[in-house]
Amino acid sequence: IFAAVELAPRDPILGLNEAFNADTRETKVNLGVGVYYDDNGKIPLLAAVKAAEQARLQQQPPRGYQPIEGLGAYNTAVQNLLFGAGSELTAAGRVITAEALGGTGALKIGADFLKRLNAESKVYISDPSWENHRALFESAGFTVENYPYYDAGTRGVNFAAMKAALLSYAPGSVIVLHACCHNPTGADLSDAQWAEVVEACRERGLVPFLDMAYQGFADGIEPDAVAVRLFSASGLQFFVSSSFSKSFSLYGERVGALSIVTANKDESTRVLSQLKRVIRTNYSNPPIHGGAVVAAVLSSPELRQQWEDELAGMRDRIRAMRTGLVEAIKAEGVTQDFSFVIAQRGMFSYTGLTAAQVETLKNDFGIYAVSTGRICLAALNSKNIGYVAASIAKVL
Ligand code: LMR
Repeated sequence: IFAAVELAPRDPILGLNEAFNADTRETKVNLGVGVYYDDNGKIPLLAAVKAAEQARLQQQPPRGYQPIEGLGAYNTAVQNLLFGAGSELTAAGRVITAEALGGTGALKIGADFLKRLNAESKVYISDPSWENHRALFESAGFTVENYPYYDAGTRGVNFAAMKAALLSYAPGSVIVLHACCHNPTGADLSDAQWAEVVEACRERGLVPFLDMAYQGFADGIEPDAVAVRLFSASGLQFFVSSSFSKSFSLYGERVGALSIVTANKDESTRVLSQLKRVIRTNYSNPPIHGGAVVAAVLSSPELRQQWEDELAGMRDRIRAMRTGLVEAIKAEGVTQDFSFVIAQRGMFSYTGLTAAQVETLKNDFGIYAVSTGRICLAALNSKNIGYVAASIAKVL
């Protein structure tokens, strides 16, 4: 049966974890995957999460099946974060939300639903984009192409090229947009540019699909939602995939959601009914624990405040690591200007390191990064930052 099966390449991001775990060097550092570690190099269990989990365990809740679309209280909490509490869209019944298996799961059910809706559409992702975007939409059966995005010269966005490309696409094309903290570049659009993207989508009749995996990691929950809010105000229909992996440090619980904004309540009812068929034939219904914990935190004013404070702590520590890395590289005598790292947003820096330099970092120093030169700043800490800076200086 399996004689003709070829060996698949390792996943470009999660495959690094496999190689990292097998590395026996004590000085090894994993700057590959987008995971937040605290200053002791540990993935934190947030205090707000711990409190909600303890309360939940005491209740000893039964483990029945969830509704296909997940927990209602969770889906409402997701909508409040994305669209704002008191959003007119949610009040009008124009938003449906389904709990999903992380942001990846949300993208997958969205992609499968879109394929049933319009099998011939093309999907456009940013150049570059998160490695899994292309694979995910291709595996749903779409042809995936890039729209211009990152400008290596300015380390910013080539917005003129991006907008011109959007305005050239066929109506119905799916445009995957990073709502904040662009992965992998850390280069985001300004609010004014987002407004232009919304207008371009309207003008060409495009299908916007916003991927929001890092809400709260740039400036905060509300400011980071600006893209979603601008699309909300536009009257357009669109998709949003979101995730609590990073913001709640709940990676392995797979807690995400797909939200779809429709034209009206009746459409919402029909869209949800179809989305439920997609979910039922993929994994039936989502697991209970992670979503219940997030819902408990977000529906308690005290726990929600505690969570926002902890999230701000993660954001501030990443920022400190950005400045720290730039200073440490400079202190190593490197003359090349790395100050752009400070301006990039979210967990990542697109360092400009070549694939060969990344390979040397791994082989000679046990420092793992994505071959594109993306590093995760959230894996740096006060103990390893000097070693990482010195190693980068050597490979340069
Ligand atoms: C990343 O980009 O490293 C994260 O989103 C984790 C993943 O699933 O790839």
